[in-house]
Amino acid sequence: PKEQTLAVIKPDALNEHKDEILGKIQEECFTISQMKETMLSKEMAEEFYKEHRGKPFFEQLVDFMCRGPCLVMILSKENAVEEWRAMMGPTDPREAQQTAPNSLRARFAKDILQNSVHGSSNQKHANEKINFFFGDITEELDRPLQ
Ligand code: CMP
Repeated sequence: PKEQTLAVIKPDALNEHKDEILGKIQEECFTISQMKETMLSKEMAEEFYKEHRGKPFFEQLVDFMCRGPCLVMILSKENAVEEWRAMMGPTDPREAQQTAPNSLRARFAKDILQNSVHGSSNQKHANEKINFFFGDITEELDRPLQ
């Protein structure tokens, strides 16, 4: 069965690498069910990353995410959560370059903070974050945009 995940192209990558990242998503046969470019407010970024509240990098992370627009997408495919995480590679681009040199983060991330893309870590988070950005659209998820 098809699965959905929430994917984000972060501000550091949206300017320079948007077309390459979208091209790679097409190549890997994801359906982009929804997509929007959005400028996060501080409050939205804090809510989006609430699981990381209290960590030493939380403030930096929130500032970074509000620095410019993000491209937020719902990606659909069989096993979408895991497949998108595999495409992204490890959080830290230094590790990504070692273990997953073709991954998006190995290619496009600047450092562990400015790491180009985000993806939900499990189905529960995916549903929650999809709701956060797009409202309750569970009924329309299989209708592709392009
Ligand atoms: P992401 O997968 O979106 O989830 C949490 C984000 O926090 C992560 O990508 C990075 O952007 C950031 N992050 C994680 N660990 C660190 C760290 N040690 N220092 C700075 N930023 C981090």
